[in-house]
Amino acid sequence: MRPTILRTVTETLAWRASMAASPSIGFVPTMGALHAGHAKLLEKARSENQSVVLSLFVNPTQFNNPKDLETYPVTWDEDLALAEREGVDVIFAPTRSELYPDDYRFRVTETNLSTKFCGAHRPGHFDGVLSVVLKLFQLIAPHKAYFGEKDFQQLQLVRGMVEAFFLRLQIVSVATVRESDGLAMSSRNRLLTPEHRLLAPRLHEITQRADNCEQAKIQLSEAGFVVDYVEDFLGRRLVAASLGKVRLIDNVEI
Ligand code: PAJ
Repeated sequence: MRPTILRTVTETLAWRASMAASPSIGFVPTMGALHAGHAKLLEKARSENQSVVLSLFVNPTQFNNPKDLETYPVTWDEDLALAEREGVDVIFAPTRSELYPDDYRFRVTETNLSTKFCGAHRPGHFDGVLSVVLKLFQLIAPHKAYFGEKDFQQLQLVRGMVEAFFLRLQIVSVATVRESDGLAMSSRNRLLTPEHRLLAPRLHEITQRADNCEQAKIQLSEAGFVVDYVEDFLGRRLVAASLGKVRLIDNVEI
């Protein structure tokens, strides 16, 4: 069945009211350009809920770099086909003005973890993420929401926000889905040049194999990456590095 597409806040609230009796609504927030990683979240949501909601919204407030926002891939037709294949019931795809009636005057700021790792290199990024996720949670009011371990810092921050504001939903995490060569699936991978695509799996390989963060940084630089950081956090090694204009992140268990 084709998913129902909701574009406005009014439509979404009416849909949610009609679902008042539903015992389990699973929600997967995304920025579109869907791939097998997103599909895994949808699959898990499908297996655990009566209804599955997917949001597609390239959230402008989490892009600290306007060029990155401009080049972020949009693949609406393919996304729709993937959503249908994964048994999504409802797609929420709002415009910016629908989600930001306040023009982003109000925002959620976490003051500790959000300043580290990716936050240190992308000022304001996590304010944008947490603010949009809170708005989406309020509108969809899911019982469970699904997030990938690929964005490990984001996952921790969303969990923290749910705890801090007593939000009534459960956050479910899903392991990182990788290409056969080890590269973590990402919407940004399609922006890599063919040469950089060949090099990209080394991000995972080096992060996993290096004896420590310093070694990983050296080896990544030698391989041709411009490294933002390699740091250990909560039993995982987190890494962010660029190839040309494309910034990649990953993390592995240590
Ligand atoms: P996006 O990058 O589209 O990712 C949507 C969800 O898919 C996130 O929870 C992310 O961790 C997960 N995901 C991405 N690649 C994955 C992979 N290879 N394996 C497993 N899960 C993966 O993250 C965002 O969008 C935005 O910040 C959002 C939360 C939607 C707020 O705008």
